[in-house]
Amino acid sequence: MIPFNKPYLTGQEVNRISEAHQLGQLSGDGHFTSLCSQWLEKNIGSPCALLTHSCTAALEMAAILVDIKPGDEIIMPSYTFVSSANAFVLRGGIPVFVDIRKDTLNIDEALIEDAITSRTKAILPVHYAGVACEMDSIMSIAKKHNLFVIEDAAQGIMSSYKGKPLGSIGDLGCLSFHETKNIISGEGGALLINNKDFIERAEMIREKGTDRKQFVRGEVDKYSWQDIGSSFLPGETVAAFLFAQLEEASNITNQRLKIWYHYHEFFNSQNFSEFFSLPIVPEVCSINGHIYYLLVKENAERENFIKYMHDNKIHCIFHYIPLHNSKAGKKFGRIGSDMEITEDLSSRIVRLPLWVGLNPENITQAINKKYF
Ligand SMILES: Cc1ncc(COP(=O)(O)O)c(C=O)c1O
Repeated sequence: MIPFNKPYLTGQEVNRISEAHQLGQLSGDGHFTSLCSQWLEKNIGSPCALLTHSCTAALEMAAILVDIKPGDEIIMPSYTFVSSANAFVLRGGIPVFVDIRKDTLNIDEALIEDAITSRTKAILPVHYAGVACEMDSIMSIAKKHNLFVIEDAAQGIMSSYKGKPLGSIGDLGCLSFHETKNIISGEGGALLINNKDFIERAEMIREKGTDRKQFVRGEVDKYSWQDIGSSFLPGETVAAFLFAQLEEASNITNQRLKIWYHYHEFFNSQNFSEFFSLPIVPEVCSINGHIYYLLVKENAERENFIKYMHDNKIHCIFHYIPLHNSKAGKKFGRIGSDMEITEDLSSRIVRLPLWVGLNPENITQAINKKYF
């Protein structure tokens, strides 16, 4: 069976973990955490990158930092992972779901202003499949209405919008290093802080609400409880693993892009349009080959397609169940626009396997056999 995902190892992970062990610190914020933060700051261009144990944790920190209070509203797509919403619901916030664009499956920036109320606090663009949201429009709406922008860039490392790396544009950006992402550490994430006003407080929230980070830097002579917070940081074993991956980030991205373009050229060169629509990448976006998807013509066809692929020993999947239609989404959120595109596209999407080491010809040949 060709799996849908296969975590890629560079071969250096175990060596880095062993180095961390030799250095004698396995709790967080040691040598490798610092190397990863520096790598992210340099390559993404954020003034401060804090490693977290997941993107979910980074989103939860973001919700605390923008000071979400019960009843505050956060505008986001419904077509996203649960953590985009849950992080804010945990603080009493209300996700307000807005429809997506047909081309990118990203939040439709043209619908955001109509969803703004006096309770709106932030906009959460989710860069689906590592393809950027229309950030210039989103940033100017946020500026006009005095709202924070938190980029859910869980899938966006090594992608950019008009040359700006994803996660570096909003006040805050959140990355994921979950094993299903391009750059991995099993579970893992980072909070990118672009609005410098948030740096000092973010360091405390991440360290159980204490000023331990300042203490470690020698800025205070003891550390104590300063704010709310939690244990949001990963240990050094995870950071050491992650650093081995970050060092190979360009290579990993290039290999994924080769597979992405193999799929894309194949589907474009054949006349598949009566069966599938393909991803569209706006010219201003440069991508990271995170996801390749097809949109079948109708929902009923999706099951047949996935079954056909399964019979040919190829595992394909779909996601997401739109949040506004889920049990918790109905309880904690509300819709801020019509949801026609979200409901339509989420019922027709199929994701093809995409991982470093995959030979995509095995997949395109199987598709060719059925459709021609
Ligand atoms: C858009 C989006 N946001 C957030 C997350 C959560 O990431 P993590 O698993 O690192 O908490 C995911 C994970 O798949 C995601 O796809």
